[in-house]
Amino acid sequence: MAELDFILRGVNLPDGRQQQDVAVQGGRIVHIGPQLAVAAAREIAAHGKLLSTPFVDAHFHMDATLSLGLPRLNQSGTLLEGIALWGELKPHLTEEAIISRALEYCDWAVARGVLAIRSHVDVCDSRLLAVRALLEVKRRVAPYLHLELVAFPQDGVLRSPGALAQLEQALDLGVEVVGGIPHFERTMADGAESVRLLCELAAARGLRVDMHCDESDDPHSRHVETLAYHAQRLGLQGRVAASHLTSMHSMDNYYVSKLLPLMAEAGLAAIANPLINITLQGRHDSYPKRRGMTRVPELLAAGVPVAFGHDCVMDPWYSFGSADMLEVAQMGLHVAQMTSQQGISDCFAAVTSRPAQILGLDWGLREGAPASMVLLDAANCAEAIRLRAARLAVWKDGVLLAEQPPQSVRLHLPGRPAQTELRLQRAL
Ligand code: FE2
Repeated sequence: MAELDFILRGVNLPDGRQQQDVAVQGGRIVHIGPQLAVAAAREIAAHGKLLSTPFVDAHFHMDATLSLGLPRLNQSGTLLEGIALWGELKPHLTEEAIISRALEYCDWAVARGVLAIRSHVDVCDSRLLAVRALLEVKRRVAPYLHLELVAFPQDGVLRSPGALAQLEQALDLGVEVVGGIPHFERTMADGAESVRLLCELAAARGLRVDMHCDESDDPHSRHVETLAYHAQRLGLQGRVAASHLTSMHSMDNYYVSKLLPLMAEAGLAAIANPLINITLQGRHDSYPKRRGMTRVPELLAAGVPVAFGHDCVMDPWYSFGSADMLEVAQMGLHVAQMTSQQGISDCFAAVTSRPAQILGLDWGLREGAPASMVLLDAANCAEAIRLRAARLAVWKDGVLLAEQPPQSVRLHLPGRPAQTELRLQRAL
């Protein structure tokens, strides 16, 4: 047998296995087990550290990221002012500026162990500037980051003149997923019609679908029901994702009890965006204020895979964020009250294995899988989320892409030994 490239000693895995050795050769995981009696070119002592598959951001807007303050700040902090602000910015965008900001963000992502991003790209622009820019970014980052693009008609595929033709043109240029925004069309009927035509377009081209769907507090919004109907009718099971679904938070419980099995039957996936949902929804409420995130535990219990996306980082809609999917998981866990042991594990999976499954990525901590992995400065999923743990090392196909030292604080306390190193970790 050829010599191993490297072996990680003593890692913990998200499924609860502890003190495992993981051997890598030729860019793949070749052995996993306790105390492997094998030699490698490099031994990495990682005892008690959590090894995960990479973070995956299943919902992002890379054409807008890092544009905060251009041409002005969102004064109200609302979704609608954000959409208006994006409209003001669009005429001033240049391909070079979008590329430059997106590449900077991709560096942030890799540093945080994010090795796959599904980004929506606005096609409501006759020049398709953002589409061309992000296709160039996709080409440049391909060696280290899986960037998947969704043709997203931000202003409505029916409401915005020329949007359907521009969306098809974006697909012709190489954008690989069909997007939509039915709740932003002029009427509920137009929204339903947009879902039909976009699903038929995807089916005809053999593409996946990922729509912004029911992103409102309207308990009567019904677009995900329509999406499930067409996904099933067109044989798109396992290829359709419904993003946001915030209206489900406010829906009648009886109706949801009918809706969830329909979504499961149609093979839909759901993508919640906790940081954005908790800040943008519920804005018309006095008190109590709705949380505005979809029903994550109930969707999971019904058999619908749920991922969490970052959605926005420093753009017209959201001034915060730093490509940290553990921050996203932490917010999702709190908003959905997923503090059970299973819930904690589900929240970690919602930013790692579940979005990988939704995007069709063959990642896993198993023999034969690509050695694309993140070593975290935490003992388990709960500690990783609690500390938003340092990414000690990030590998893609066995190649080291990023390293970060462990986090510690040097204390200088009176009456105590100088320079005490404090780490915020506690063994259970
Ligand atoms: Fe979005």
